[in-house]
This record gives sequence, C-alpha cells and structure tokens, in this order.
Amino acid sequence: MDKSEGLKKIHEKWFADCKCELKKTATQPVPGDGNPDSEMIFIGEAPGRDEDKQGRPFVGAAGKFLAEMLEAIKLKREEIYITNIVKYRPPNNRDPLPEEKDACRDWLIEEINFINPKLVVFLGRHSMNDFFPTEKISSVHGKLLVKKFSHVNVKYFLPLYHPAAALYNGNMRETLTEDFKKIPKILEKIKKEEKENKKVEQTKLF
Ligand code: URA
Repeated sequence: MDKSEGLKKIHEKWFADCKCELKKTATQPVPGDGNPDSEMIFIGEAPGRDEDKQGRPFVGAAGKFLAEMLEAIKLKREEIYITNIVKYRPPNNRDPLPEEKDACRDWLIEEINFINPKLVVFLGRHSMNDFFPTEKISSVHGKLLVKKFSHVNVKYFLPLYHPAAALYNGNMRETLTEDFKKIPKILEKIKKEEKENKKVEQTKLF
C-alpha cells in the first residue's frame, strides 16, 4: 500500500472513531492534508469557516498567508503536510476546549508518527502547548525546541505565531515572516545532526 493510501485509511478510521463533541456542530471533519513524505508537519489549531466548508485545512485567509510564506522559502503547499490539533470546527471559531483537544489527540499522534517528519512546526500557542504546556509563544517563537517524547517519533519542534493572529498585526506579521525564513537552515541543521548521530551510533556498534 502506498503512503497516501495508508494515510487515507487512518483518516477514514478516525472519521468513524473520533469521539469529539464538535462532530455534532461541524459540517464535516477536516483531516490533515498534503505530502505524506514531507520532512515537516505544520500543526494549526482548528478548522475555521472556510475549512469546515471545504473539508481541507488552511484554505482561508490564514492559509493564503501561509502559502505566501512557504513560497518565500521556495516550497509549495502541496510539498508539505498541514494539519490541526482539533479536526472539527468549533462554533463561531471559539478556542477549542481541553476535552475537544483530548478527543482529537490520538488522531494527531497517529498522523505524526505515520508521516514521520524531521520537524514539527507549531502554528500558534494551542498546538505548541499541546506538547510544551508551560512555554509561552511570545518567548519561544522562532526557536528550535528539542525534546524526546514517548508518544511521538519526532524530537525537533519549531513554534511560530499563528498566521491568523499575525495577519492583521504588523509587528507580529513581520516577526512571523522572519521566523519562517529560518526553516530551511533549521532543517539543514537537523539533517546534519542526524547524520552525525548516526555516525556516533555506528562507531559505538563497530
Ligand atoms: N486556522 C487553523 O488553525 N487551522 C485552519 O485549518 C485554519 C485556520
């Protein structure tokens, strides 16, 4: 089975199994979308009105801004993988509740582990706080966080401001645009470190 098929199967399983209460008010689920072989996963908060209508993440104004920032680092949206912590639209775009995040968490974890990326990019504090509950986005945005978790096979995380929050705030927009441009160098650094670690591991073995 190819990787896209595998991912489709995961989403279909969760369409049936996810116990999130937002199912009752949302038009449809909004699963992650993009390249299953991507080296990066971008994680947002929850679908908004446009995403709820189309069933795809980041297709509204925030998504357009995200696509522009990706283009600036020579990436197309289709080349990366984008998802949200919560897969159903909260009514009137309110913040997702802790129990809604909990209900969607295993779906997100399965997605991340299936894609197996080198880097997770958090779009906003909600997705960051799901993994790093005590960090403040205003202090750690644009800084690489390195941590081993038992439930995900990624250890590099980059928190960024949420594109929707930055869209109409000049300073935040500038900061996000600058932070975004660090992504290619950060990926290079991760790959270099992985190579060196492999060498160390091999030296230990032989
Ligand atoms: N904001 C998000 O966090 N996710 C989307 O999919 C769209 C807007």
